[in-house]
Amino acid sequence: MTFKFTEENLKRIEEVKKKYPTSLAAVMPTLYIAQEQNGYITNEVMEEIANVLGVGKIDVLSVVTFYTMYHTKPMGKYHIQVCTNVSCMLRGAYEIWNFIKERLGIDHMEVTSDGKFSLEEVECMGACGYAPMIAINEDYYENLNKEKVEEILNSLLNSEL
Ligand code: FES
Repeated sequence: MTFKFTEENLKRIEEVKKKYPTSLAAVMPTLYIAQEQNGYITNEVMEEIANVLGVGKIDVLSVVTFYTMYHTKPMGKYHIQVCTNVSCMLRGAYEIWNFIKERLGIDHMEVTSDGKFSLEEVECMGACGYAPMIAINEDYYENLNKEKVEEILNSLLNSEL
């Protein structure tokens, strides 16, 4: 299935390109825009990015496979990332990780059968001073404990799909 950027996103990419000295440097923000439009990054998406930026597909592929924030398969409506790196781990990240796994019945990079949630164990997200923390889509939730996570999950479980 082919992928084409919307007109609006092509304009956004043009703006992004102006901020960087080379098109290669614009691969990461362009991938963000693509993921926002398509939900995840496919071969066709990478080809389109390579065409639009005038870079090699291998340049796009190497970024996609290096960073964990780009998804190569569909994720849930709410993509939950749990940091289990040192600061978060020392402050109870695994208790939170295990709690979410049990509560949603999914493991690392899995999606609930209704497509509402997906889960990912990640490295440091740069919020160590507020450990332990999780991210749900683009939002950070910090200074957490099991009870606070349960509250957050409950509000999402009760929300519309
Ligand atoms: S260790 Fe978790 S945000 Fe840095």
